[in-house]
Amino acid sequence: MVSNSQRAWEALREEATVCTRCHLYKCATQTVFGEGAVSAKLMLVGEQPGDQEDLAGQPFVGPAGQMLDRALEEAGVERGTTYVTNAVKHFKFEQRGKRRIHSKPNGPEIEACRWWIDQERMLIRPPVAVALGATAARSLLHKVVTISGARGRPIKLEDGGECWVTIHPSYLLRLREKADKAREYAQFVADLRTANARAA
Ligand code: URA
Repeated sequence: MVSNSQRAWEALREEATVCTRCHLYKCATQTVFGEGAVSAKLMLVGEQPGDQEDLAGQPFVGPAGQMLDRALEEAGVERGTTYVTNAVKHFKFEQRGKRRIHSKPNGPEIEACRWWIDQERMLIRPPVAVALGATAARSLLHKVVTISGARGRPIKLEDGGECWVTIHPSYLLRLREKADKAREYAQFVADLRTANARAA
């Protein structure tokens, strides 16, 4: 049987397909709404869909998503039990020839899109949210923070939930030094494990 919250979430996702709250809908292929369990205790929030997510219409299915999946598995977190979403629901990019290069969302774009994440949070009410990177942290905490300053402790959210700030998985993809990558990856896995334990 389909629960009321599942139905409400489906209606919300449908509404988001025609979102014009900011200008980003004009160039993106489609809205990439969150997905996962409406009963999730753990919400994972990224920045915005990338090129592959924009085409697929699903969050975290490209290279950063694969890195996230690997880290979740290592942390003992089943992705299917979580709710995965983004601070900004449209892909922002710069066209360079045939390539679409990711471009960071700015303050007004994050603010305009916060409406959706607030709705998702109201429906799902996850006790714990993980902010994957500074844009997600800015959206959830309503202020600009640095990863190093906000990491490693629970931060109370306005709706009573708690937020754990960590790196964005694409940061790991950019690291060239093997040792740096291994250290940062281990810390990322530890952050996910801690957040999941708090959500249990
Ligand atoms: N990066 C994000 O922040 N979100 C995605 O969905 C994919 C890549």
